[in-house]
Amino acid sequence: MSIKKTIAVLISGNGSNLQALIDQAGEQAYRISGVVCNRHSAFGLQRAARAGIPSAIIEHGAFPDRAAFDAALLGAIDRFQADFIVLAGFMRILGPAFIRARPGAILNIHPSLLPKYPGMHTHRRVLAAGDNEHGVSIHFVNEELDGGPIIARSRIAVEREDSEENLAGRIHRLEHHLYPKVVGWLVAGRLELRGDAVYFDSVELPATGIEHPAPAGA
Ligand code: GRF
Repeated sequence: MSIKKTIAVLISGNGSNLQALIDQAGEQAYRISGVVCNRHSAFGLQRAARAGIPSAIIEHGAFPDRAAFDAALLGAIDRFQADFIVLAGFMRILGPAFIRARPGAILNIHPSLLPKYPGMHTHRRVLAAGDNEHGVSIHFVNEELDGGPIIARSRIAVEREDSEENLAGRIHRLEHHLYPKVVGWLVAGRLELRGDAVYFDSVELPATGIEHPAPAGA
């Protein structure tokens, strides 16, 4: 019998972070027991199928309100018997009942150095502001959009020739390097959320989380 903890990965689109989680599961103490997606056409569903991972499609348009959609999502996650919930490009806001149902067990990845640039179009906003650095953040999910307690961040220098598209690719490399590791810490019990504070190996982290080096060539 496997001693690995299980995770459900929630996606809406391409699923390259899902792919990184699939590819690196062998090195970490998690197993992906299911993928939940709110869009039929999401390419990530093909990635799950190829890896032999069951998926559930829960289309938000089929529900009268957010509470009903959230309940259906939780139902799917329960059917997958997932210990933890990992958001990977899931483009719906989760309601308070969902978040309160799984305290300290929901992670999200966001393509900016939070608290800068919550929300959409982060690469465009970084370029428009003339920032000289950009990065990714992984945080516990709370009721504020991209506003939960930060666990880890990783950064790159913005180069003069960087375009929005190019930055998206560079940021994805950071994400694929960092997310499986952080999920590994969570399932191994190394991360803990106490109120708004994040503890790593029982030591409280600063509000900006762990600064994790970018992979070579990022
Ligand atoms: C990532 O940039 C992630 O940070 C954001 O949505 C994007 C999802 O990309 N939340 P993918 O679907 O994993 O390729």
